Amino acid sequence: MDALIHKSQDFVFHQEVPPNGGPPLNRLISEFVTPEPDFFLRTHGDIPELDCTTYRLTVAGLVGKPYRFSLKELRQQFPVQEMPATLQCAGNRRCSASAIKPVPNEVHWGNDAISNAVWTGCSLAKVLTFVGFPGHAKHVEFIGTDLCQKEGTETRFGGSIPLARALLGDVLLAWGMNGQPLTREHGAPLRVIVPGYIGARSVKWLQEINLLLTPSRNLFHAHAYRLFAPSVSSSSADWEHGLELGELSVNSCICAIEEVSNGLSVRGYATAGGNRHVVRVDVGYGEPLKWIEGSFQDPAEAGVWRRWQAHTPKLLVGELICVRAWDSAANTQPEDPESVWNFKGYMNNAWHRVRFGMPWENVKLAKPEIEYYL
Ligand code: MTE
Repeated sequence: MDALIHKSQDFVFHQEVPPNGGPPLNRLISEFVTPEPDFFLRTHGDIPELDCTTYRLTVAGLVGKPYRFSLKELRQQFPVQEMPATLQCAGNRRCSASAIKPVPNEVHWGNDAISNAVWTGCSLAKVLTFVGFPGHAKHVEFIGTDLCQKEGTETRFGGSIPLARALLGDVLLAWGMNGQPLTREHGAPLRVIVPGYIGARSVKWLQEINLLLTPSRNLFHAHAYRLFAPSVSSSSADWEHGLELGELSVNSCICAIEEVSNGLSVRGYATAGGNRHVVRVDVGYGEPLKWIEGSFQDPAEAGVWRRWQAHTPKLLVGELICVRAWDSAANTQPEDPESVWNFKGYMNNAWHRVRFGMPWENVKLAKPEIEYYL
């Protein structure tokens, strides 16, 4: 393990090289803003150590002439913006997908590939407007500094978002996290934050921004983070036809169950994608299922998670508890996990089901065994 990574002692590493992991689930939802030592970590390659003073961000592509910004220029030239945003990896909840059918060669995330922070930076929209771009520019590509081994080649991590999304004003070029400078593992000195999008578009160690006519051809955009039907395998996949992932879908998870005097206290998180927010959480228990509505600990805001809680009556060991969320466009989660299975294990948002009385130590360890499907 890289000695420069400072994570909580009980942080659960699903992979050591490159390091990928998340905090124990009950702690994940203990605070609205995840403390940095508990914030999940997703890396595909090396973790660069960049010098803030010599660092330069290049903005190029369809712009008249390429611009280079130092960190100091970005801080001084553009208004400083601070906002909460939840990052969630497209691979969150993959272990439940692989319980249906194996998902080889991918990090086996539990429900822990998600965290929420308050980010400080400047608006990408303001930087792009300052630089200027032609009317036919349609996409904004972000390229990181890290080198990743992928499909037999060494490539820098990257991806793009539509220019229209970039111009909404809430996409941040962030240098701060929870009131502190970004740490090295979370992208210092500068990273992108795209609220409501898969975490992969929030590129860390940002080196280049390119204005493009078409979406990025970077391997992590053109050849990964694409969604296929359950019948497609890695050998039969036509990458050009895979759905290019962008906005997150609505999702929710149970993270903790505690026995209280008159029943069970069930707690977790819920998220929505794009500019949508979570409006309701239904918690089901027993068989046949009875549904109750969860209550929220956090306000409704696009791009930010809402932690929820519900109280069920006492249940017998082995009885079912499940959760599904609804977003502001009336989208909800599919009941059947098989219908969303894909060979990369992306975007698993089927109802999250657990059985009461499982050893909850496993939950703390974010182990896949906590998830049972009928
Ligand atoms: N940016 C670079 N340069 N390299 C990466 O490996 N991982 C992406 C994204 N940005 C990645 C990256 C993915 S898949 C996710 S989910 C988020 O960073 C995770 O951010 P975090 O490690 O700060 O939690």
